[in-house]
Amino acid sequence: MSCFHPAGFYAYTRYQPTLLCPYSPLYIHIHPSILIRPILPIINLFFTSLPPPSNSYEFESVSSSYSSSMTNYTPKNILITGAAGFIASHVANRLVRTYPDYKIVVLDKLDYCSNLKNLNPSRSTPNFKFVKGDIASADLVNHLLITESIDTIMHFAAQTHVDNSFGNSFEFTKNNIYGTHVLLEACKVTRQIRRFIHVSTDEVYGETDEDAVVGNHEASQLLPTNPYSATKAGAEMLVMAYGRSYELPVITTRGNNVYGPNQYPEKLIPKFLLLSMRGKPLTIHGDGSNVRSYLYCEDVAEAFEVILHKGEVGHVYNIGTKKERRVIDVAKDICNLFNMDHESSIKFVENRPFNDQRYFLDDEKLQSLGWAERTTWQEGLKNTMDWYISNPDWWGNVSGALVPHPRMLMMPGGVERVVPENVQSDSPHPAVNSSQFGKVGPTSRTGSNPTSKPGFKFLIYGKTGWIGGLLGKLCEKQGIQYEYGKARLENRAQILSDIQTVKPTRVFNAAGVTGRPNVDWCETHKSETIRTNVSGTLNLADVCRENGVLMVNFATGCIFEYDATHPEGSGIGFKEEDTPNFTGSFYSKTKAMVEELLKEYDNVCTLRVRMPISSDLSNPRNFITKIACYDKVVNIPNSMTILDELLPVSIEMAKRNLTGIWNFTNPGVVSHNEVLEMYKEYINPEFKWKNFTVEEQSRVIVAPRSNNELDASKLKKEFPELLSIKESLVKYVFAPNKTTLI
Ligand SMILES: NC(=O)c1ccc[n+]([C@@H]2O[C@H](COP(=O)([O-])OP(=O)(O)OC[C@H]3O[C@@H](n4cnc5c(N)ncnc54)[C@H](O)[C@@H]3O)[C@@H](O)[C@H]2O)c1
Repeated sequence: MSCFHPAGFYAYTRYQPTLLCPYSPLYIHIHPSILIRPILPIINLFFTSLPPPSNSYEFESVSSSYSSSMTNYTPKNILITGAAGFIASHVANRLVRTYPDYKIVVLDKLDYCSNLKNLNPSRSTPNFKFVKGDIASADLVNHLLITESIDTIMHFAAQTHVDNSFGNSFEFTKNNIYGTHVLLEACKVTRQIRRFIHVSTDEVYGETDEDAVVGNHEASQLLPTNPYSATKAGAEMLVMAYGRSYELPVITTRGNNVYGPNQYPEKLIPKFLLLSMRGKPLTIHGDGSNVRSYLYCEDVAEAFEVILHKGEVGHVYNIGTKKERRVIDVAKDICNLFNMDHESSIKFVENRPFNDQRYFLDDEKLQSLGWAERTTWQEGLKNTMDWYISNPDWWGNVSGALVPHPRMLMMPGGVERVVPENVQSDSPHPAVNSSQFGKVGPTSRTGSNPTSKPGFKFLIYGKTGWIGGLLGKLCEKQGIQYEYGKARLENRAQILSDIQTVKPTRVFNAAGVTGRPNVDWCETHKSETIRTNVSGTLNLADVCRENGVLMVNFATGCIFEYDATHPEGSGIGFKEEDTPNFTGSFYSKTKAMVEELLKEYDNVCTLRVRMPISSDLSNPRNFITKIACYDKVVNIPNSMTILDELLPVSIEMAKRNLTGIWNFTNPGVVSHNEVLEMYKEYINPEFKWKNFTVEEQSRVIVAPRSNNELDASKLKKEFPELLSIKESLVKYVFAPNKTTLI
């Protein structure tokens, strides 16, 4: 019988379910926060002699091994979930390498924190198979269990980053609880599983008292304090229930923090290593006094090897170390490895909503199976540093994960990292021998389409502007929550207040002075231009970074002009990394300076817009409307931005956490005359215009204008469906206006 503790949690190990039952003579009614953990092991001794429950066995094959005290189990076909992630990749590689007789099937949905390269050592091995898919797909899991004759499951797949769980806890419930439930049901239905090893965490115990000298024993009460650990505890409850109700032979592990190669750099140690490699400050949540216990990944992989073969069904095993370290000391040790000064390299930032002080485990039980920690902290940290230095690009662009509070960047929908183009759901990844992939049944592509996911909230600056106004309308159309910023950009305190009240997941800056009726205004209003375009933009980027929010900045491509290496008509456009060469107008000059400074902000996505055009031909800001009203126009090919096509792309870029500089134009160029020819064809057959030269033009304007071609191939690679400028003009601007205006 299992009973609820007043705190609402089961006390849980296989043979101690009544430990905290109010009706038990041993029930001790004290407040959970002062529960005397040290006495629990003693009480456990009493209960370990209880017989197993007498439910009819659903899992016939396990009945004989169920009550043995120390089994020596030999699996045949193991399904490892989440093995493109950190810990499980080490476990999978180890088992593939050490046990050629075992078949290892890996199921992973390739979430943002995973990497198929983590499984490289197993790729060419005949006893290894990778399947891309979600554990939450019951059809897929059932299919795999049957077709691969799985007898053992090692279940690692989970959303694992505590910081993210403060922002988007539903993703954690979905993956960690529902996903586990699907696996358990599949075990129940297929009735062939002889071991289900469920991987949980030390965090389910909640915080350990600072002065406790005895660590949490496996029978200690579960008191999770954050959404991540709560979902892990929830999953454990289901595992326990399937063990009890259906005799599923379950073993649960609860581990301390793990570190080593292959870990996605949102976690403390790889994050500090990468920041050190980039010469950036190491940011610590709070004062750094929190204590953590770290185990090296190979030691943990060995622990799983031991538990797989020797672990007793129905039991929980802590995988722990008695060596504890304060976060500040971890940071200092990493600074020492890089010869960095502690004072100037360590920065303290706002703490997360709840940051447990300490997780201390009693690791005796696992040691009694013969496991021991082998790697010293110094050795493990050095190995890890060497690995990250040798593999700096393992994770691609992870600047979003390196900000102090990456939860806001990674939050909605558990954004997926970009999967190589030719990897389809359920289909083999080219990096892995295709013969080793199962042809699997249907899977859901949960998370593959960030557009459809709820949970984004945009804060937009530039309400009264053209782009800012359009962005708001787009959000309404797409059902994205948004608010316009109230702050003046030059006022830092006001920006902070906006961010604290709106709590945005992304910020868009479409504010700025562009001059009315044109940029000539900036020549005579230099202070106003600096205030908004320079100080304001930098302020916003800075406050966003302090708060871990991605900022999409609408910048300009009018900072380049054709030159000898990028001549007009050559098709050689300026690339993102090229240095601006046009400072002819004060407007362009300030924009180029700001772009340069924004490079220092890894939370900023700079979009170089050029000669924006929209389908609204009544808007005087529209390039088409402008040139259709001029008496004379120059005729020079230029890169341009079709807002109807590209503003939705900017939203998608924000959702994908894209940062850095982007030429934000449609590929190719179009000249003034070509645009006006289209205008004549689609809008007004009577339309006539005259050309003049650039020299003639310079006599009627104050500041020179830039003409250039931007190379949009980076954007096209990210969004292959992007239309060329001429196609986009027809599709988004002229064709829709033809019927209404002619
Ligand atoms: N890293 C630690 O310090 C630590 C400590 C204790 C316990 N744990 C537990 O160990 C396990 C592995 O942790 P990690 O750090 O290696 O995690 P990770 O974040 O590196 O990897 C998790 C993997 O699970 C996959 N995944 C997530 N949801 C999935 C789904 N619905 N279907 C299929 N695949 C899915 C991801 O793609 C990823 O490859 C987790 O269960 C975690 O709770 C981790």
